[in-house]
Amino acid sequence: MQDFTTKNTKWKTQRPQSFNSSLFFSLCAPRFPASANLADKFNFLTIFLAETSNLYLNTPAKIINLIYIFTAMLNFRFARDYLLHRFKAKTRHGVHSPFVYRLIDEVIYDFEPKKVYGEVEALRKQLLNDNRTINVIDLGAGSKVNNDQTKKISDIAQNALKPPRLAQLLYRLAADLKPGNIIELGTCLGITTIYLQKAAPKAKVYTLEGSPETAAVAFETFKNAGLNSTVQITGEFSDSITLEVSSNESLNSIVEITGNFDDKLPGVIKELDQLDFVFVDGNHQKDATLKYFEWCLPKVHENTLLIFDDIYWSEGMKQAWTEIKAHPKVTVTVDLFWIGLVFFKPGRVKENFLIKI
Ligand SMILES: C[S@@+](CC[C@H](N)C(=O)[O-])C[C@H]1O[C@@H](n2cnc3c(N)ncnc32)[C@H](O)[C@@H]1O
Repeated sequence: MQDFTTKNTKWKTQRPQSFNSSLFFSLCAPRFPASANLADKFNFLTIFLAETSNLYLNTPAKIINLIYIFTAMLNFRFARDYLLHRFKAKTRHGVHSPFVYRLIDEVIYDFEPKKVYGEVEALRKQLLNDNRTINVIDLGAGSKVNNDQTKKISDIAQNALKPPRLAQLLYRLAADLKPGNIIELGTCLGITTIYLQKAAPKAKVYTLEGSPETAAVAFETFKNAGLNSTVQITGEFSDSITLEVSSNESLNSIVEITGNFDDKLPGVIKELDQLDFVFVDGNHQKDATLKYFEWCLPKVHENTLLIFDDIYWSEGMKQAWTEIKAHPKVTVTVDLFWIGLVFFKPGRVKENFLIKI
């Protein structure tokens, strides 16, 4: 099995496990008492497996077995969360809220191919075939195993970018909302940035990336996409963003800012009167995620959409998602497992929708 270089690679290696777990669970679940909750059932199963195998194995095999079970448990949590989500999530037919029904029907489940998809996917293809290597600085949660700083662009394109179906969903969400401004935390090679820009061509798109060489490749990609009014802001500043961005009257496409979200995001938020669309796709850690959420709150309005990526990636991200959902300002949330949508519609009963995609 391939090693776990990035979160996306990890996801791929987990897929067969989720199938096995599904089968295993469906065979075993009916034998548990009705009162047992799902976490209890899964904990029980893991312990049961470990204990029974211990009865039959000699010492070296026991160690290998324990390592195996430990490794399986790491993936198992994610697989379990995925299965639970599949089990509980609805399609549009189980949804009574007209606002969410329309969003699912017309936006989330709009699977019609679009010309723009082909254009952006052609850029992704170029990156997938780019054999140059760059130095990558990881300022976020990053890889759990491989923190090699020199990476091939093709490998980054393979492992770190949103897959087409999610990137295209972001496109549809932005096209539907028609935001005046977009903030993206985590440019990487620029693929989702381009989808967002094309979805809302009149919006100012601020995209932030902490790894300078990665940001430089994204800048090339923006040029290849014909986005010639892209502005690149690098260097050590925070408050000076206001000056530099405002002074460029011709700005109508992408403002690419290189630096740590922690340093640069406050300046971008300060620049804007209100936030329309924010996509958080980097630094998947509980405290950082909650911090970025809190920073956005003073400028959200009734049509703002915040999107958080990888809300099930770790226990910390799950906790961050739970806290975001519980925040008094948040009314409607849509949990699509891979991403979570957060709305601030006033006058609505607080509700979280789990939707299958
Ligand atoms: C998952 S990738 C973004 C993928 C991109 N949105 C796409 O799908 O096309 C996350 C990016 O966030 C950047 N990043 C993570 N933590 C960061 C931080 N604290 N400050 C700045 N950049 C950060 C990483 O360098 C990485 O390139």
